[in-house]
Amino acid sequence: MNEKRPWVYAGSFDPVTNGHLDIIKRAAEICDKLIVGVLVNQNKTYTFDQREREDMLKTVTNNLKNVEIESFSGLLVNFLHKHDSNVIIKGLRAISDYEYELQMAHLNRYVDENVETLFLMSSLNNNYISSGMVKEVGSFGGDISGLVPKEIVERVQKRIMK
Ligand code: PNS
Repeated sequence: MNEKRPWVYAGSFDPVTNGHLDIIKRAAEICDKLIVGVLVNQNKTYTFDQREREDMLKTVTNNLKNVEIESFSGLLVNFLHKHDSNVIIKGLRAISDYEYELQMAHLNRYVDENVETLFLMSSLNNNYISSGMVKEVGSFGGDISGLVPKEIVERVQKRIMK
């Protein structure tokens, strides 16, 4: 593997959580450059639009010099090709993530056999966090300050409150 090539961390980030940020920081420590790919899927309905999801990611990674945020649509592997990357980085929380991620990793290698998927285990305190959970708790007025980065707590809370 050539460490000089960027690694890619992709997701919907609707919104970015502490769990995502933990993986971004840890991956950025071990690769030269990390590109965070924000998926834009026309068939999916998002709570936060592309600009907002990108903007929140930029805000919370502002101090990470080797991290770039960019939206993409279509195949993740094509996004990797665009950046001359062959490494996808993923976070694994519980066993329940495993089967889905295994399928994705195989699919991506089916599309391009040179693409490797590397997994980082979520930090213990982020094991239960997902964007869906953030929206569930926040929409009923629950405190989300332990779930999303502090810079975006208010912004997310305002938006999802029912
Ligand atoms: O945060 P998410 O929604 O779980 O992220 C899923 C993501 C973006 C990693 C996945 O949907 C993806 O890679 N989509 C791009 C389309 C693609 O390449 N599909 C084939 C591989 S599964």
